[in-house]
Amino acid sequence: MRKLIASALWALALALTACRSGGGSSPALSSGSDTSAPGGSSLSPSTATLSLVAQVGRQLFFDKTLSGSGKMSCATCHDPGYAYGPPNSLAVQLGGPDLQSPGTRAVPSLRYKETTPAYSDSAVNPDGVSLPSPGGGFMWDGRADTLAVQAAVPLLNPVEMDNASPAAVVAAVQAGPTAAPFRQAFGANVFNDTTTAFNDIGQALQAYQIEEPSFHPYSSKYDLYAQNKIGGTLTAAEMRGAIVFSNAHSGNCAACHYPGAGFNGSSALFTDFMFEAIGVPRNPEIAANADSTYFDMGLCGPERTDHMPRSPGAPDVYCGLFKTPTLRNVATRQAFFHNGVMHSLLQVVHFYNTRDTNPEIWYPTVGGRPLATPSPNFLTYGLVTTQYTGGTVQKFNDLPSAYRGNIDTQVPLDGRPAGSTPPMTEQQVRDLVCFLGTLTDGYQLSASRPTSGPCVN
Ligand code: HEC
Ligand code: HEC
Repeated sequence: MRKLIASALWALALALTACRSGGGSSPALSSGSDTSAPGGSSLSPSTATLSLVAQVGRQLFFDKTLSGSGKMSCATCHDPGYAYGPPNSLAVQLGGPDLQSPGTRAVPSLRYKETTPAYSDSAVNPDGVSLPSPGGGFMWDGRADTLAVQAAVPLLNPVEMDNASPAAVVAAVQAGPTAAPFRQAFGANVFNDTTTAFNDIGQALQAYQIEEPSFHPYSSKYDLYAQNKIGGTLTAAEMRGAIVFSNAHSGNCAACHYPGAGFNGSSALFTDFMFEAIGVPRNPEIAANADSTYFDMGLCGPERTDHMPRSPGAPDVYCGLFKTPTLRNVATRQAFFHNGVMHSLLQVVHFYNTRDTNPEIWYPTVGGRPLATPSPNFLTYGLVTTQYTGGTVQKFNDLPSAYRGNIDTQVPLDGRPAGSTPPMTEQQVRDLVCFLGTLTDGYQLSASRPTSGPCVN
């Protein structure tokens, strides 16, 4: 409710843009018109315009000697070929001494992070309408205020790059190929003080992520569309998907994945940086979840420790809230949500649509009897593909019951009764996935437009 106005405004802007670009597109694009493609569409990093500090950061980003195992760099998990996200479909990546130790959270893309504000319990919502609430910060729980501070976490995490101490990281840099440029950038005596040198490593990695154009190329089809450029004409399916995205009564994605102007003049990041609890199902693929008393509750812990409940189960409005991620490049991912529990974008959108109307396909049932032959109208795209008779669906099974009141109640996750009609039709779900596909960077104008496929008509 609180965000309806903002998304309505975006829908209006979208409709106006549609009119504007209505007749402006050439039906058959020759390859010659490719010159209007925006810069930075290349996925491979370049050092062209980087400051010395950022060039140092680039070398560190790809340096495997910065891990205890000697086999893992930042780029191992944040692969430039996958929008600086994970290159595989694992829910969580493997790190540590022999690259066998599983993490507890999915790896986010590092694209479009440069305008993320620091975390605040009462952040101002960019929509200009909503009341201040938790927002900002890096990580799924916002616990790192800057990219520089964030870099220390993977370097020292025993299940990631697994260095014993900041001193060990500094020693590795001092002994490695980056020692000379590091001295050049930060001073001849930089290695004399471990604390300063370790901070400088964070500064270098931050400068690289901010300055390197491939972290924020704005080269998607959507960008061409938003700038009314040649080739930026959305297909009928993509356009319908865009409308569903912003429609407060169907997709309503724009309420949280806010597409309007972002912070510091950034454009359309498809996140408002705010925190919400949406009841993502527990992921048995995550080793830590074998312990039934372990819960990853985002803002209230366990990684973040400043909003923890006073005692187990004590009231706490922060439990279960995670940061709304950007949807740019989301179609390049193979694991979705903070725990990587879903592996296709279509499944994610189906989850939004039927979490409440068909919870039995998203959460386990206990005490029921499996049916040998499911009924013909049993939905088969969920996480649970067996139909049960009797038993109880463990809805919101990844959040202790004391905190389920924290779960957001906006459309499409508005708590409508099981068995009622979902907010989106199957066609709208598919159109929405087509629209999300326009947010992938590196869009190439092709000589001939596709005339068939799910996202054309
Ligand atoms: C073993 C895999 C792995 C490695 C190696 C790794 N990361 Fe990450 N990265 C993650 C995971 C998982 C998260 C989310 C962690 C969380 O939310 O608690 C993350 C989060 C981040 C974020 C926050 C993004 C956001 O959306 O808020 C940044 C920035 C980042 N990593 C940068 C780096 C840098 C720089 C390095 C190298 C020093 C690095 N990472 C190494 C797995 C990795
Ligand atoms: C109430 C706010 C809210 C609304 C409305 C919302 N989202 Fe989200 N979205 C989130 C949050 C918060 C997360 C992270 C949740 C988590 O991992 O626990 C998320 C995660 C996602 C992800 C996973 C991205 C990734 O990198 O893993 C996708 C895809 C997504 N949303 C798409 C959509 C679409 C499509 C819609 C509209 C049908 C939508 N969202 C509506 C808040 C929202």
